[in-house]
Amino acid sequence: MPKLLHIQSSPMGELSFSTRAAKAFVDAYAGAHPGDSVEVLDLWKTELPQFDFTAASGKYKIMRGLPHAGDEARAWEGVVRLIEHLKSADKVLVSAGMWNFSIPYRLKQYLDVIIQPGYTFSFDPEKGYSGLVTGKPLQLILASGGEYPGGSPAAGLDFQKPYLEMIFGFIGFTDIRTLRVEGTLTPDAESNLNGITEAASSAGKVF
Ligand SMILES: Cc1cc2nc3c(=O)[nH]c(=O)nc-3n(C[C@H](O)[C@H](O)[C@H](O)COP(=O)(O)O)c2cc1C
Repeated sequence: MPKLLHIQSSPMGELSFSTRAAKAFVDAYAGAHPGDSVEVLDLWKTELPQFDFTAASGKYKIMRGLPHAGDEARAWEGVVRLIEHLKSADKVLVSAGMWNFSIPYRLKQYLDVIIQPGYTFSFDPEKGYSGLVTGKPLQLILASGGEYPGGSPAAGLDFQKPYLEMIFGFIGFTDIRTLRVEGTLTPDAESNLNGITEAASSAGKVF
């Protein structure tokens, strides 16, 4: 059964704009793909591995082609489990708010855990970097309190959309679609959400 994995990174529950827009996407997706399963990974309700000294030492060992020591191997069990979980999905949806012009730290922690040499990317001195998470479309649904229209001076402050599109591209995603609800801290917040909800429903049907 094909699986859509929804990686949810707002802690705001039903008040979250990114989660509400993502819900419209998922509802439309489920209606159009009745044989598929949808799994939610709520990054605020999931225990993510700490990427501490032992885990980082294990990463450097892989980069140097060295075997893991016992404690590194144990620390990496959780890392590999999270990577395999991502790879088990056929399609991926990530919803996120903008925090300090970038992404919430739980989503950054998730990315710091799963982006690993030999697992989600590889490096070849002649060919450079290659992503290893291939063949899956990715839908990003992003919310921000302010507005960052392309070409405006404010766009230069936006490290949310460009970062997420770059980093998922780095690990192999080539079909990346992005929807944004902006101005969620303005009086137009709800009407902005309504506009994006319709777009999210249309996008979910054909994902
Ligand atoms: C810790 C924190 C930092 C934020 N930083 C920004 C920011 O730099 N720029 C911005 O436009 N909005 C910022 N906001 C507002 C959020 O982007 C906005 O409330 C958005 O709707 C959050 O997504 P959510 O509703 O899905 O949780 C911040 C909110 C929080 C809680």
